[in-house]
Amino acid sequence: MANFFFLLLTTCLFLTHISGQTIAPPPPPTAATTPAALPAAAQEFLDAHNKARAEVGVGPLKWSPMLAKETSLLVRYQRNKQNCNFANLTSGKYGGNQLWASGMAVTPRMAVDNWVAEKKFYNYANNSCVGDHKCGVYTQVVWKESLELGCAQATCSNGPSTLTICFYNPPGNVIGEKPY
Ligand SMILES: *[C@@H]1O[C@H](CO)[C@@H](O)[C@H](O)[C@H]1NC(C)=O
Ligand SMILES: *[C@@H]1O[C@H](CO)[C@@H](O)[C@H](O)[C@H]1NC(C)=O
Repeated sequence: MANFFFLLLTTCLFLTHISGQTIAPPPPPTAATTPAALPAAAQEFLDAHNKARAEVGVGPLKWSPMLAKETSLLVRYQRNKQNCNFANLTSGKYGGNQLWASGMAVTPRMAVDNWVAEKKFYNYANNSCVGDHKCGVYTQVVWKESLELGCAQATCSNGPSTLTICFYNPPGNVIGEKPY
């Protein structure tokens, strides 16, 4: 492993309230099926999210196999066609967080912890970030109206670099609203 690394993160913002345009409502959460043990990576993504949510009194997310499949298709596309670069999430119907990392292996927990690390820049009282910081990745993690989560990771040989993407349904980061 290289002795240096880079991390970049990004989220998408939803403009439903300031643009005034009508958008299709997000698909309803999928019906519960028989409980089965989640894959280890899924459980790790879920636990890391739900810990951060519990810390601010927000209920847990549920793992969505449908969202997991969507993120899996997307990270594989980014790996195979886009050198593991960030996906363009701006036209998606789900909330999305991404983490790109180079020079280090990234576990699901590390990815989520990097998003949650932006919490220190977030000021709940006026719902903004200090200075030039961005904390939308954090507010998406703890967005109360988001109920379902699906995530996937892909590794490219360049670097090596890793791309992690999570989708949230319904989407968070609605402009002008507080996360909880
Ligand atoms: C992402 O997609 C949107 C909508 O399709 C498009 O307007 C925008 O230019 C794209 N951004 C990039 C960086 O490709
Ligand atoms: C929000 O409040 C913090 C702490 O009082 C302040 O530093 C920051 O400038 C405020 N941000 C905005 C956009 O008002």
